[in-house]
Amino acid sequence: MSFLVFLCVILNAFHGANADSDSLILGCGLENSAKDGDGRSWESDSKYITGGNSVSVRAQYQDPSLLSETPYMTARIITSKANYKLPMKANKRYWLRLHFYPAVYGSNNAEEAYFNVIANDITLFKNFSASLTCKALTQAYIMREYTLAPSTSDSLSLTFEPVAGFAFVNGIELILIPDMFDTVTVIGFSDQTIDAKASNMQTMYRLNVGGQYISPTNDSGLTRTWYDDFPYLYGAQSGVTNLASANIKIDYRDLPGYVAPADVYSTARSMGNTKEINLNYNLTWVFQQINPNFMYLVRLHFCDFHYSKPNEIVFNIYLNNQTTQSGADVIGWSGGKAVPTYKDYAVYVADGKGDEELWLAMHPATETKPEFFDALLNGIEIFKIEASKNLAGPNPQPSEMLVKNEQQQKTFQSKTSHAQVIGGAAGGAAAFGIVAALCIAVYQRKKRFSGTESHTSSWLPIYGNSHTSGSKSAISGKSNASSHLSATAQGRCRRFSFAEMKKATRNFDESNVIGVGGFGKVYKGVIDAGTKVAIKRSNPSSEQGVHEFQTEIEMLSELRHKHLVSLIGFCDEENEMCLVYDFMARGTLREHLYKSNKPHDLTWKRRLEICIGAAKGLHYLHTGAKWTIIHRDVKTTNILLDEHWVAKVSDFGLSKTGPDLSTGHVSTVVKGSFGYLDPEYFRRQQLTEKSDVYSFGVVLFEVLCARPALNPSLPKEQVSLADWALHCQRKGTLEDIIDPHLKGKIDPESLKKFADTAEKCLSDHGIHRPTLNDILWNLEFALQLQENMEGGSGHSSRRGGSSSDEGSLRDQQNMAMHYSKLSLGSESELGNEDSINEQSNTTAIFSQIVNQKGR
Ligand SMILES: *[C@@H]1O[C@H](CO)[C@@H](O)[C@H](O)[C@H]1NC(C)=O
Ligand SMILES: *[C@@H]1O[C@H](CO)[C@@H](O)[C@H](O)[C@H]1NC(C)=O
Ligand SMILES: *[C@@H]1O[C@H](CO)[C@@H](O)[C@H](O)[C@H]1NC(C)=O
Ligand SMILES: *[C@@H]1O[C@H](CO)[C@@H](O)[C@H](O)[C@H]1NC(C)=O
Repeated sequence: MSFLVFLCVILNAFHGANADSDSLILGCGLENSAKDGDGRSWESDSKYITGGNSVSVRAQYQDPSLLSETPYMTARIITSKANYKLPMKANKRYWLRLHFYPAVYGSNNAEEAYFNVIANDITLFKNFSASLTCKALTQAYIMREYTLAPSTSDSLSLTFEPVAGFAFVNGIELILIPDMFDTVTVIGFSDQTIDAKASNMQTMYRLNVGGQYISPTNDSGLTRTWYDDFPYLYGAQSGVTNLASANIKIDYRDLPGYVAPADVYSTARSMGNTKEINLNYNLTWVFQQINPNFMYLVRLHFCDFHYSKPNEIVFNIYLNNQTTQSGADVIGWSGGKAVPTYKDYAVYVADGKGDEELWLAMHPATETKPEFFDALLNGIEIFKIEASKNLAGPNPQPSEMLVKNEQQQKTFQSKTSHAQVIGGAAGGAAAFGIVAALCIAVYQRKKRFSGTESHTSSWLPIYGNSHTSGSKSAISGKSNASSHLSATAQGRCRRFSFAEMKKATRNFDESNVIGVGGFGKVYKGVIDAGTKVAIKRSNPSSEQGVHEFQTEIEMLSELRHKHLVSLIGFCDEENEMCLVYDFMARGTLREHLYKSNKPHDLTWKRRLEICIGAAKGLHYLHTGAKWTIIHRDVKTTNILLDEHWVAKVSDFGLSKTGPDLSTGHVSTVVKGSFGYLDPEYFRRQQLTEKSDVYSFGVVLFEVLCARPALNPSLPKEQVSLADWALHCQRKGTLEDIIDPHLKGKIDPESLKKFADTAEKCLSDHGIHRPTLNDILWNLEFALQLQENMEGGSGHSSRRGGSSSDEGSLRDQQNMAMHYSKLSLGSESELGNEDSINEQSNTTAIFSQIVNQKGR
């Protein structure tokens, strides 16, 4: 029986048809049916809505992270209680999926919408703000999935009721599914069970553990979305991923294929093969945004495609630190190699401290003496179970940082165009309202690279394009950005007239162009009868810009540091926007390294000094300002040199404040420049200051090797400098690829220190990368070594030393000498420099900088 239903569903899904009444896929506000990016067809909702006042409206702005127009760009705006009457079969289970894109729809700004949603008699949302929810999750849109228990009714009444403002919805899916739930024992209450078969639930998470994003069309017939589990892993130990070899076929036996696709069962995460390590940690996932006072159904999918006998791998499973399952033995359960199985557990989350999280942990069950000390998992699904006909939770609280940012943004958002308010900082993907956007990113990247599909989104850096465009701005040049700049920014910045700009650049004469960026052209100019400046003029036809322009003004007006380029002022009139900076006589670092006719006047010592300067600028951004600032676009063209070769970090158009201290990262749409982009940031879409460290590592190798970060004309393995330099460094052949102008002129230990530092910056995982503080320290040391060599004093014995271990006494002495010479920051940053020079303890020096808050 249930198999027949399954077949039906499968056929239905595979033919993408919703002609028969088993499934409804409604694009709200659509006039005619339309296909989404996955090729699924969405029909108009108009014949299903009854009562109340509602209109279909198109969004004004398409966030770049939207995978396709359908169903998000149109919405049904409901201004008084209205009802969808959707046909369904009695006594069958359904998915109900709701899609929301909180944008500006005509005169309706979704920020003002608060509403209730009720499905038959189950409250799904109470005073729901899609806008607040998306903001807290830093996503542009969300999808919520529910599973409705079989009922005797032959229709679903879905009610939207405005609480304040209006209600809206972009997409509704109602999909017949087999009943795949049963009675489940509640953890900690062995006598208590919950009947999931009769429960209405909300999907919280659905993860393909150790695997990749699975799109609705690639699910095993139930149009579910499965995400990568990586963003949820907790702690430094994240185990290893396993992939079944191609000749292994998942053998479903009694398990219906719809339970989970073979993709889920043929990828897994295990602890790794070092017993001692495994015994010392728990493989742990942490799920946030869990509402207390609800029961959660946790479904774990297992399939061992490696071993075939019981008692080879046996482990314990914990949920919220309670033993949920002792002696889990996958082969013992499933009966064989590559045979999948799943287990359901119910856990109650009470209203205590820290209860907005769900912890899942695994540890080898040593007491059973298994052959291997390991644990293994293939998939996770977490469902919230209704409590007294309710599934609604409160709107999430945005973090303090987000609120602050938001206020700042508001002050410089154009009031005539709200669209960017929502689209601008956010991005990301639909999930069950919670899942990180990463999988979409990877998925989208694949598409883009295979060239099979061209999306409208512009947020990914395009190969070879050194400057990345950010979100498309919906604000036209007409908006008067400066009137919305924060008062402090206005106060600290000088405002120029456009006439002054024209005069300074001789009417933007082409011969004055000194650079071209994503923002527009950069001109040299003269103001105040003699002061040399660089003027960045926004390209009036560029869609991008206003947002980055404002970010740059806000950031730079707050920041003053010897190693950051300084903003003198800006101009914003006659649809023209210009930024006015100190003139950097020697241009970008890149042009001194390669690809220009400049004389090769960069000695190793000078290069080290430049790197140290840039590192100080970045270190200041990360720790010295009022809050952490992540630059996001560190590269050699954004490091400028003044006439005295002092390095200054520039271009803050993509910078972000953060991370939020509680999570340690900012979730965001990936931006940056190819060749410099942190792979972890790309995978996880979580931005931390370690992403800048990665990019800086690329800069260090670029400085050493004098070649571009990406050079497509080279053999494949050499195209990416990061990959190639790491390869050479690990093989010990780095000296072969360094800049020929440096050959024989670098102190070998200075080189080693420098290369080791650069290598660490390029570590795969952010946590293994050094902080800028460490980098600075190492670079200063490399400089010291080089100076010693050039000065020709006291180095012979050092060279003869047995090792250059950082721990050795000799090095410690060197370091001590080096601390006393350490100079950090500019005078204005460190008011009490005298006392610093007397310090002999580096921690004290750095802690002064780290603790420096504001000015
Ligand atoms: C709805 O939520 C908003 C924000 O969370 C709150 O300010 C408002 O008072 C709530 N309204 C009701 C009726 O609960
Ligand atoms: C579905 O899976 C196939 C094979 O793995 C893949 O090529 C395709 O891109 C996937 N489709 C989607 C929409 O992800
Ligand atoms: C579980 O334990 C860890 C530390 O062992 C703690 O940080 C965490 O808050 C606990 N989680 C819950 C839900 O009790
Ligand atoms: C693993 O988690 C359990 C439950 O929270 C805890 O009792 C145990 O100490 C943890 N083990 C390790 C090695 O962290």
